[in-house]
Amino acid sequence: MTLRYIVQPGGKLTGRVRVPGDKSISHRSIMLGALAEGVTEVSGFLEGEDSLNTLRCFRRMGVHIEGPETLGAGRVRIHGVGLHGLKKPEGALWLGNSGTSMRLMAGIIAGQDFDAIMEGDASLSRRPMRRVTEPLGLMGARIDTAEGGRPPLTVHGGSKLKGIRYVMPMASAQVKSCLLLAGLYAEGETCVTEPAPTRDHTERMLQGFGYEVRRHPGEGGSSTVCVTGGGKLTATSIDVPSDISSAAFFLVAASIAEGSDLVLEHVGMNPTRTGVIEILRMMGGNIEVLNERVVGGEPVADLRVKSARLKGIRIPEALVPLAIDEFPILFVAAACAEGETVLTGAEELRVKESDRIQVMADGLTTLGIDARPTPDGMVIRGGQLGGGTVLSHDDHRIAMSFAMAALCASGEIRIEECDNVNTSFPGFVELARGAGLAITTEVVGA
Ligand code: S3P
Repeated sequence: MTLRYIVQPGGKLTGRVRVPGDKSISHRSIMLGALAEGVTEVSGFLEGEDSLNTLRCFRRMGVHIEGPETLGAGRVRIHGVGLHGLKKPEGALWLGNSGTSMRLMAGIIAGQDFDAIMEGDASLSRRPMRRVTEPLGLMGARIDTAEGGRPPLTVHGGSKLKGIRYVMPMASAQVKSCLLLAGLYAEGETCVTEPAPTRDHTERMLQGFGYEVRRHPGEGGSSTVCVTGGGKLTATSIDVPSDISSAAFFLVAASIAEGSDLVLEHVGMNPTRTGVIEILRMMGGNIEVLNERVVGGEPVADLRVKSARLKGIRIPEALVPLAIDEFPILFVAAACAEGETVLTGAEELRVKESDRIQVMADGLTTLGIDARPTPDGMVIRGGQLGGGTVLSHDDHRIAMSFAMAALCASGEIRIEECDNVNTSFPGFVELARGAGLAITTEVVGA
């Protein structure tokens, strides 16, 4: 049984919406809270399958975690066990669809004295893991993978880790975070250099838990971040802002749907995440940033977005890592814009929950748009979207992107395999419908 979305064309988005909590911060709140000394209180936690899988895994490693069901919306209380208090789980750890869980937890589990197996669904089982297993190996970890460096991962405990200096071949916050977390267990200093800025929640949150993190700016946008093993994390409280990656669907939707005027409340505005706003503004988007404030070490604001005539642009490569999860919906913006949009330097999109370049190009082509995939991006000529049936390939962000595309389409759009929207955006259908999207669902194969 799978879920199908059926979205009628047209409509406009109005009112005020608050999208669910940030996925990256939710994962990290569980991981760092579990490894801290004391009780960490979390509010705004994302009750999506991905972050819930992280939570369940730490429970299975002996961490007492209250909520979210028992404490009420988005509240979680983590009774930290300290850096050396995790217990060997019975059986394999199930991470579902979540690459963030697998890659970050690989770094944590590499520092334990027990073995653990991590596995996930079909999509996660296709994703590359050598990007973490190789540098962890350099630190002294022993990790077995399936063929081609894919999951499941078997992490062998009891290795004595040593700090390394590692220059990442790609701009990846997951790889950086994995190595910093392993670095907490390593002898000496672990330094990770990124070729371009990526989301820095791990660094900010480690500091929020009282751990020293040193950041050194480098040449041409690169930078190095270092931790020294042997310290401790101290429990704290975390207020998770709304996920800008979820807000992005509404930013584009209100931009492309004539007559829209929508406010998105309490959106995380970490500068390593706001590429989508910059790109939309370059395309002519009308987005106002209101009520800026800092909540628990992360900048937050309300965003007012009104419909606008978008135009095609060449997307600056420097913005790619800062909007890495937003390209499916930005491709929809490009399809509704006047003229050509060109994306390059985004080959990472091919190894997300689906091959987001191919899958989006296929869907847009089905809807009558000239969308040409390239090895590292796409060229899209804006035009009139028609109706049709598109496949999401079980990718949450593809499903939500095509749902919003109906706002500027001339016919009904049906989207197959939408169950995984629940990994990052529980309640998407109801929230989008409340704001004005004519969306219904159907269970297929019942
Ligand atoms: C994430 C980092 C990004 C992003 C993912 C979440 C994180 O992945 O796409 O959704 O929480 O660190 P990469 O590090 O693979 O770019």
